[in-house]
Amino acid sequence: MSQSKLISFDPQGVFFEPHGIDTAQFDAMAGEMNRVRAGILNEDLHQYETGQVPADRQPLDAGFMELPERMLDAYRTDRKSSELGRILETAQRLQQAVDRVVVLGIGGSYMGARALMESCCQPYYNEYSRAERGGRPRIYYEGNNVDNDWSQGLLNLLRCQDDELPWSIVVISKSGGTLETATAFRQFLRALEAEVGRERLPELVIPVTGKTGKLANLADAIGCSSRFLVPDGVGGRFSVFSPVGLLPAALMGIDVVTLLEGAAALNDHFRQAEFGSNVVLDFVAINHLLEREQGCHTRILSAWTKSLESLGFWYDQLLAESLGKQEQGALPLTTVNTRDLHSRAQQHQEGRRDKLVNNVVLDSWRYDPLPVGMSDWNEDGLNDLADRTLPEIMNAAWRGTNLAYREDSRPTTNLRLPGCNESSLGQLMQMLMLATVVEGRLIGVNPYGQPGVEKYKLNMNRLLRESPRSE
Ligand code: PA5
Repeated sequence: MSQSKLISFDPQGVFFEPHGIDTAQFDAMAGEMNRVRAGILNEDLHQYETGQVPADRQPLDAGFMELPERMLDAYRTDRKSSELGRILETAQRLQQAVDRVVVLGIGGSYMGARALMESCCQPYYNEYSRAERGGRPRIYYEGNNVDNDWSQGLLNLLRCQDDELPWSIVVISKSGGTLETATAFRQFLRALEAEVGRERLPELVIPVTGKTGKLANLADAIGCSSRFLVPDGVGGRFSVFSPVGLLPAALMGIDVVTLLEGAAALNDHFRQAEFGSNVVLDFVAINHLLEREQGCHTRILSAWTKSLESLGFWYDQLLAESLGKQEQGALPLTTVNTRDLHSRAQQHQEGRRDKLVNNVVLDSWRYDPLPVGMSDWNEDGLNDLADRTLPEIMNAAWRGTNLAYREDSRPTTNLRLPGCNESSLGQLMQMLMLATVVEGRLIGVNPYGQPGVEKYKLNMNRLLRESPRSE
């Protein structure tokens, strides 16, 4: 296991009166948090592993918890035939064969990959030449909507390129029957066939799906040479460290081993660190107490870098779909600063007192700090700040915002990331998945499954099949 720096959590900005909480309330959570952790590590994992899950605890998709260790162990034992080995081999094969990959999937079947791309690949990744991308393909996302113009926009874009290499499809659906993804697959498959001919489809279409289902059947019919399983017992939004997230990540050149090592390191920390210095337990306890004691039902994930916007959207989905049940669950909201200081901050500063701001802050940046610089035109008055760099300005904005919120008795916390890289993202994503399960167990909501979402699907299908076409 690499000795990378751990992410950290600082909740000092919530301990005040009258709209925060006090440290005694936090300390009093220790027993309950330890009990919940023990339940997850013992009861949940035991029931999951033995398959003996009582009816009132189903579904129990606890398979994500030890997935990073399982993937790494299998890879270290047998590099070639392990799942991670196959992912890397397929990624390498596709990198040589194509210059664009369309990832089809919705919800948990694509949001993790997009979050990893924005955080771990260089900004504007797709815009660079093939050489500047290190020979890795451009990545596009579809099948996450039924938007007539954006679907055709991408089909047109693919059609009008005069690339030497073809494009390919990675289609991801655990159930294999989600209408948005299935529709896009049919349309993009037709376009790919028109371009390369039916005989090349088996090598250029990579399905990631369950053992059975409509997509599995299609993969058989096409004769796909590489395909991957969404493991049983791993739910969509918890599947980023399965082929669902790892295959697209490997395609775009992300170091998936370091990513998994980060997640495994976080697992160790979760198991061993005491309440009060446990990033998962502390994060849950603080967010829970602010909701319970102060009515902070809106949780703002305030990312102080553009690179984490999609990570925020991934977490919005994770929290909303997992805990938004039985008339419970906080409302997650992602903001990106300093951008959104100019759109949302007024409300966060002086609006309803129903918000907790969880800042996510970087300790280091991909590129060297860029100074403001001297200029012959000092009409803007910035020569005073010529030596100041963008990270320094960002830091001042973050600290200044926290101070301003504190002056108005608005609670804030800080999650610190050593960098926006594989190690930190592996830790952060595993931390947020564990935190979601811990909170679910704490408030008595099953974090797995999404029974409510089925209702729109039933209605949509009925309307499509029964209504006259003009409606
Ligand atoms: O978290 C979940 O389970 C959902 O968001 C699913 O990922 C989403 O509905 C897509 O499902 P599927 O992968 O079966 O197409």
